[in-house]
Amino acid sequence: MASPLDELINTHQEALDAKDPSSRFCVLITIDEHDFPASRVLTVRSVEHQGISLYVDKYSPKIQHLQSNPNFELLFFWPSLMKQYKVRGDFELYSDDEQTAGWINKPYAGRLVDLYHSLGRVQSSPVDSLATVQAEIKQLADQYPQQQLTEMPDQLVTLLLKPTHIGAWINVQEDRIHDRREYSLVGDIWCEQVLVP
Ligand SMILES: Cc1cc2nc3c(=O)[nH]c(=O)nc-3n(C[C@H](O)[C@H](O)[C@H](O)COP(=O)(O)O)c2cc1C
Repeated sequence: MASPLDELINTHQEALDAKDPSSRFCVLITIDEHDFPASRVLTVRSVEHQGISLYVDKYSPKIQHLQSNPNFELLFFWPSLMKQYKVRGDFELYSDDEQTAGWINKPYAGRLVDLYHSLGRVQSSPVDSLATVQAEIKQLADQYPQQQLTEMPDQLVTLLLKPTHIGAWINVQEDRIHDRREYSLVGDIWCEQVLVP
């Protein structure tokens, strides 16, 4: 059996080639401190054999969730292909040279927000108003003009999600009997289970 990871990588590439806007994003679901599912959209940096790479702030709630409960689900839906993939597995967080080197190419406004987080306003923490955030970021912009904001804050890291379970839903237009499969990695072998659509 071809590896479902190969299928995921190839299908993601197909969605990119089709310029499917959803190919650039995914939804990551973690379990919060109250045992509720917590979802958010993230930008997909790459889908490769080693796993799915995302760029995150290591002090953000999603990472706090993963550190206290490693269970997650990642959802891809590519409407141009009418294919959905769900991924569960293990995760790793690390500082990545490519991410560090590429940070300078991020728009200045985004770099300022990253700096803002690193100086004490933790991502997703409560704040009294949007105006406060705007005023504080404006102050940072005065302090750190574009040319001087070149070093990526340490807390930005790569989150690598390493699939051990993949669920596929493939639209079959002709008879609407969609192709549903679940794959589990047992040792280093992927096992396949067909599901009723
Ligand atoms: C289109 C889109 C792309 C996003 N990309 C990222 C991303 O790559 N990394 C990230 O940390 N947050 C990204 N976000 C913001 C997250 O959805 C989320 O608001 C933020 O990471 C805080 O999540 P948390 O409080 O659950 O940790 C993106 C949001 C949208 C709508």
